[in-house]
Amino acid sequence: SQNEPTIYKGLAGVVVDRTQVSKVNPDTNSLLYRGYPVQELAAQKSFEEVAYLLWHGELPTDAELGEFEEQERSLRHLTPAVKRVIDELPMTAHPMDVVRTAVSLIGANDPDAADASPAANRAKGLRLWAQMPAIVAYDQRRRNGLEPIEPRSDLGYSANFLFMTFGEVPELVVVNAFDVSMIMYAEHSFNASTFTARVITSTMSDLHSAVTGAIGALKGPLHGGANEAVMHIFDEIGLGLGAGERAEAWLNETLAARRKVMGFGHRVYKHGDSRVPTMRTALVTLVEHYDRPDLLELYESLEAGMTKRTGILPNLDYPSGPAYNLMGFDTLTFTPIFVAARLTGWTAHIIEQTASNALIRPLSLYNGHEERHLA
Ligand code: SDX
Repeated sequence: SQNEPTIYKGLAGVVVDRTQVSKVNPDTNSLLYRGYPVQELAAQKSFEEVAYLLWHGELPTDAELGEFEEQERSLRHLTPAVKRVIDELPMTAHPMDVVRTAVSLIGANDPDAADASPAANRAKGLRLWAQMPAIVAYDQRRRNGLEPIEPRSDLGYSANFLFMTFGEVPELVVVNAFDVSMIMYAEHSFNASTFTARVITSTMSDLHSAVTGAIGALKGPLHGGANEAVMHIFDEIGLGLGAGERAEAWLNETLAARRKVMGFGHRVYKHGDSRVPTMRTALVTLVEHYDRPDLLELYESLEAGMTKRTGILPNLDYPSGPAYNLMGFDTLTFTPIFVAARLTGWTAHIIEQTASNALIRPLSLYNGHEERHLA
């Protein structure tokens, strides 16, 4: 009827608030973190520098970076309680559930749990971020029947993450590709998990609650869970000789059944995801390093087939999933890696939401039963 309010299903196209953290521009296909193009940051800066930038608004000086790195490196160990709780979880638990549970436990023990000042939120974000590789690596090793590995304080964030997972520091090309993926995943404006974190923050709840909720939102295959789902598609089609032909057949069947092809499409980008070219280059470097042309063949034929049939382009999860596979991560570990990266963006948004808070509470249009009464 005439008086019906417009419904913005999925909040599509709705501008909810201002932000200074990042700018996604689908027209120019660009992404800026605090004003800097993400491609420039990936080429010249470390993930630690990007985290500092997101949290403080400016890149660190050498002295500031030194202090920041030293702090992060000193906070990497898990308490025995966190390890015990992870051990209590079934091996069949999805690693995102393990990460969510660990974050919840860490929050319950955090000395600054109730302090929502920017400094306290940065300190809480830092403690959580520093422990994330230990949580993710501990769980992957547990699932594979391997002993946990303690963190090393002489390694950068990405190198230590890989060391704790695999027991050795891989070659520089691998560490760099991983670091690039972390920078690409760090921040992306009001995506579903960040918005979830902001909704929770808007009630004046605490950072760990906001992060726990954000992890829940990120888990779904329409959001962060897509990097895992991409690898399932690759496994389903099967790598090795003739992957191109099999990809064609798989696509025909999938699209005919009106199923979504994970790793493709985006709510905001309609001419391609700004982060894909950089991550694709990192993937190609890994393909060469590990000598796996079959993986690239499948990657390219699926992309070509999808683009030809639908015009829908890949998003960041499409190149990052296979990249993590080449590095040796279990498919189930892909989305938890995304958590470690996006924790930097979430923390920046939690601080920003707190500083200019308004309770987030939209309206709904009731279309249930008309008023009725008990007999
Ligand atoms: C991330 O927002 C962010 O910033 C997220 C993210 C971040 O950094 O935080 O970038 C990370 O989450 C990337 C997205 C990962 N998700 C996937 O890869 C899952 C597969 N993709 C889709 O389901 C979909 O494209 C979404 C969820 C990403 C976007 O969905 P929208 O905006 O709600 O669009 P839609 O589902 O309504 O699609 C519009 C049309 C539909 O066709 P019609 O009904 O109009 O005929 O395009 C079709 C869709 O069926 N379509 C797809 C498709 N994506 C869109 N068809 C097949 N496969 C796809 N992947």
